[in-house]
Amino acid sequence: MSWMITRSKFLRQVALGLGAALMVAACGGDEQAETPTGTAGDAAPAGGVLRVGTEPAFPPFESQGAGGELEGFDIDLMQAIGEQANLEVEFESLPFDGLIPALQAGSVDAAISAMTITEERAQTISFSRPYFVAGLAIAVQEGTADVAGLDDLEGKRIAVQIGTTGASKAAEISGAQITTFDSAPLALQELANGNVDAVINDAPVTLDAIASGNIQGLEVVGELLTEEYYGIALPQNSPNVEVINSALAELIANGTYAEIYQKWFDAEPPELPESAF
Ligand code: ARG
Repeated sequence: MSWMITRSKFLRQVALGLGAALMVAACGGDEQAETPTGTAGDAAPAGGVLRVGTEPAFPPFESQGAGGELEGFDIDLMQAIGEQANLEVEFESLPFDGLIPALQAGSVDAAISAMTITEERAQTISFSRPYFVAGLAIAVQEGTADVAGLDDLEGKRIAVQIGTTGASKAAEISGAQITTFDSAPLALQELANGNVDAVINDAPVTLDAIASGNIQGLEVVGELLTEEYYGIALPQNSPNVEVINSALAELIANGTYAEIYQKWFDAEPPELPESAF
């Protein structure tokens, strides 16, 4: 699959290169063709490479296949955005709580990692327009009788992934003992092992872990605790915000977004707002 994308991208670049060469020839110019939209600093210019960070233990958004290759909704979407924007996407696996520091340090140009657009994060980084609607859910061991919602978690042991909105939600619960893990599957496994009473995590990911059989003996209880929009994260005021937003808008309009959504969620995508707040 990624080979196909690389190949078609390669062919397209060859075609573009040919076109440019012909144009220069037609104009009779012998000066060097200008680099397309060169941008200052370390921002990726259009037609260049976009280094994209992700924490790939969050299926069905990002995970590693048997051979270590990245796969998931976010991965396909980011590749499609790259195709659309004529950027070559190079993924880099990073811890989730290292993504924002990496954007700030400029060691990656973007991050796609089922990252919720929050006002707090938006103070230090920029986000694309929303590309997914999700929300937090509580998971417990199957048959747990005394947890039906957030209020029932007071004083309980809760596992979360470090640096996530689930971790922030858990921190609001009075008397809760919170254990943080580097990944969501580790937090869910701790619950399956009976070492904590609940996990607060993104509903689509917890539901996928249960449905796929990756984690056994758990169930989701109660209503979603939040409604959250995922966005692609970028360094503050990066010129790529516009590039990614227009590519995303085009993929939504031309049905590619819906196709990728179908592939991973077996459903029609919901309407997405143009902005999260
Ligand atoms: N949506 C949550 C947040 O932004 C969790 C994201 C975790 N993503 C991941 N790839 N582990 O905080």
